[in-house]
Amino acid sequence: MNTTISVIKADIGSIGGHIRPSKRLLDSVEEYVRQHQKGLLIDHRVSYTGDDIAILCTHNLGAENEKVHGLAWDAFKAGTEVARDQGLYGAGQDLLKDAFSGNVKGLGPAVAEIEFEERPNEPFLLFAADKTDPGAYNLPLYLAFADPMYCAGLILSPGMFKGFRFDIMDVSYTEADKVISLNAPEELYDIAALLRDPERFVVEAIYSRDTGEQAVSVSTTRLHNIAGKYTGKDDPVMLVRVQGSFPATGEVLGPFHIGAYVAGFMRGSHNGPLMPVPLNSPVSFFDGPPVVSCAAYCVHEGRLTSAADAFDHPFWDYIRSRVSEKAVEIRRQGFFGNAMLPYSELEYGGIVKKLEDLEERFQFR
Ligand code: F6R
Ligand code: MG
Ligand code: MG
Repeated sequence: MNTTISVIKADIGSIGGHIRPSKRLLDSVEEYVRQHQKGLLIDHRVSYTGDDIAILCTHNLGAENEKVHGLAWDAFKAGTEVARDQGLYGAGQDLLKDAFSGNVKGLGPAVAEIEFEERPNEPFLLFAADKTDPGAYNLPLYLAFADPMYCAGLILSPGMFKGFRFDIMDVSYTEADKVISLNAPEELYDIAALLRDPERFVVEAIYSRDTGEQAVSVSTTRLHNIAGKYTGKDDPVMLVRVQGSFPATGEVLGPFHIGAYVAGFMRGSHNGPLMPVPLNSPVSFFDGPPVVSCAAYCVHEGRLTSAADAFDHPFWDYIRSRVSEKAVEIRRQGFFGNAMLPYSELEYGGIVKKLEDLEERFQFR
């Protein structure tokens, strides 16, 4: 029987601004899932990254299952009541629609899911990012799955010699899912041409061309596409199956040392370096910097091990210092130029009104 791993995450309120959820809120979500999972889930874990709560669960019901999504939706609804009761900031922020309609996609929460036949040993990684958007994973995925400079397995491990298929979504198209499949290594330049624009083109999934197995699933939700206005950054989650004919854990983690500049940070309107952080980390400086955590698991017959905290290691302390320097450097130039996102990506509409008002005062010469 196939195992499905689903991760569904939402920001439903946090302490002291958009910093982190309260312990009571986390406990309430976990408690709800525990009480209602019988006959549905095999296992589950609840964690947070910045102000977002992720429900990781395993089951045999396949991706986009109405009952599994409904359980997560209801858990976030129940949590929202607790957030309101505690007066948490942004209570229920990511629950953008009133009613659940079979699938949380398009309702606000972010979802990543993979269904597969378990290998005898099945290691996988759960990434959760805050104060950024799904394109933040484009560069690490490109380097880990298509570049032998970062992924030694591409030249050393025969199971990877055929390369990987990238499914890339045009997230600016809102009428339907608009997706292209491109093969690495033959179409590397085409992949790069799309992934260089992470606000528009986002890796949705990656498949082994050797086995056809799915390695990666990324949540591709763009909140402002759903709400039509700023409601917070999309704060993406990602599942990555690793080892064997997939890249090794270390090959997937490696590119995160770059701390690449990504969209997000304060008011979802700036560029900031993506900082790899330990599990259950809050944000801080300028509501950031953009952060990403990684929980490494094994799953067997749907049962999850405890999480290994992949970025909790002295090596990453050094990287965090360097990323902090990058964050300070770009913050020194405030609103100017590349420090702030282009007009189309600014998540706050206020500037539109300001520019409209100023427009009237321009004079023609
Ligand atoms: C970014 C984010 C925060 C808020 C900022 C202002 O995704 O969540 O940076 O945008 O704290 O928040 P509001 O508008 O709620 O006062
Ligand atoms: Mg938020
Ligand atoms: Mg968030």
